[in-house]
Amino acid sequence: MDEEVLEKHRLAGRIARQALEYGLGLIEEGARLLDVAEETEQMILDKGALPAFPTNISIDSQAAHFTPRHNDGDLVFSRGNLVKLDIGVHIDGYLADNARTREVGTRNWTDLIKAADEAVATAVEVIRPGTPISMVGAAIERTIRSHGFRPIENLTGHSLRQYTLHAGKSIPNVENLRDERSMQEVEAWESYAIEPFSTNGSGRVQGKRMSNIYRIVDYRESGVKEADSLLEKVYQDFRTLPFSERWCYKLEGRAPYHLRRLVRKGIIMGYPILVEAAQGMVAQSEHTVVVTEDSCELTTVL
Ligand code: CO
Repeated sequence: MDEEVLEKHRLAGRIARQALEYGLGLIEEGARLLDVAEETEQMILDKGALPAFPTNISIDSQAAHFTPRHNDGDLVFSRGNLVKLDIGVHIDGYLADNARTREVGTRNWTDLIKAADEAVATAVEVIRPGTPISMVGAAIERTIRSHGFRPIENLTGHSLRQYTLHAGKSIPNVENLRDERSMQEVEAWESYAIEPFSTNGSGRVQGKRMSNIYRIVDYRESGVKEADSLLEKVYQDFRTLPFSERWCYKLEGRAPYHLRRLVRKGIIMGYPILVEAAQGMVAQSEHTVVVTEDSCELTTVL
């Protein structure tokens, strides 16, 4: 990784953390989800970067992949909500991904949040070139279980490459020795998003309802001019990174209709909202690192 690329990772990381901290400060009883999503994304743009994916705001037993639609202005935070805010930034495709959890007006889930925060910190401590990936998963699992909770086993951290959020290697949230991929090792100059999820539920998520988040899977013409020009604009800024219905609606008023058509044609895919299988409460904490010659550097810091 040359110095210029490393600097882009660092800058993306700093902006991602700034946007995350700013967004967490906006979360309060009665605040609109739409405002938190749009203001954090606007902050990223104002700093000269682009979102790497739509701001994810997942509440209570939702673990990930919810973002408001353009007309979701009536969605507000309620007292007692457990809110995961997950924010990504890219600079020329170099990625930073980070998340934290905030409870709205109550303190019922402090330890669940702490379990996720401590798990990511422990993972960062063990990551260096040569670390078996299973060891990172084991550190995460041990930390979360020591608080009396379960890690979510079918969500993982992931290696990052330019314009690629899931670049092939996964960082499991459990020891997972049966999976041969966890026998891989961390290598120098790789970048990873590490994202433990803690829950008082079953430790698995499932996705049944579609979210408002999409990704281009097969970039080609659909045969409808408006849809194709929309697709071209999305591809320019985000390539195959996730994007939202909201962003498309700003570009094109008939976007919701076009998006459904593009899904049917297999040009884009929609992400399901991921919900804890036993309706358990879920906390998440996430950082991005760049692995160096002999240790790793957190990029998602202020
Ligand atoms: Co994330």
